Amino acid sequence: MKKITTLLCASLLATICLSFVQTSAPNASIQNGKKVYETYCISCHMENGMGVEGAFPALVKTGNLSDKNRLVKIILQGMRGPLKINGSSFDGEMAGIEMTDKEVADVINYIRNTWGNKAPLVQVSEIPAAKIAVVKGYQPY
Ligand code: HEC
Repeated sequence: MKKITTLLCASLLATICLSFVQTSAPNASIQNGKKVYETYCISCHMENGMGVEGAFPALVKTGNLSDKNRLVKIILQGMRGPLKINGSSFDGEMAGIEMTDKEVADVINYIRNTWGNKAPLVQVSEIPAAKIAVVKGYQPY
């Protein structure tokens, strides 16, 4: 009986530990992404992700954040050209920003999982391939 109790306790502990590991990893990326966003993006896209009407596009529920390759390119190489978002038109420019692959993945995970946005998490290992991927209609800065 004692043996069974010990076994039960051990498996319970393992389950708790395992669930902690599983949930803490993604959150760490999103949490660090918030810091990256506050450092590099907040001045234009604003704390609430709503941007500035007519100048800086919103990143909130626009349906424009689904292509992770496009996001990686926008962040690192910037973008130009017309954009239509929730009825507002933009024809501005955003310069690329120099940052590590980890910072890119973290900030993507943050913007895609904040302000009501929901998307799968991007791994750091996916960033190099995204940099060289062909993205239709995308114009770098
Ligand atoms: C100096 C201001 C500025 C900063 C800083 C900036 N952006 Fe931008 N961003 C813009 C502008 C302007 C556009 C629209 C460019 C255009 O009209 O082609 C844009 C476009 C975008 C888009 C495309 C939106 C869409 O709906 O297609 C994304 C995504 C984006 N920015 C993310 C970011 C992220 C993430 C950061 C920080 C790493 C960042 N931006 C930093 C000004 C900025």
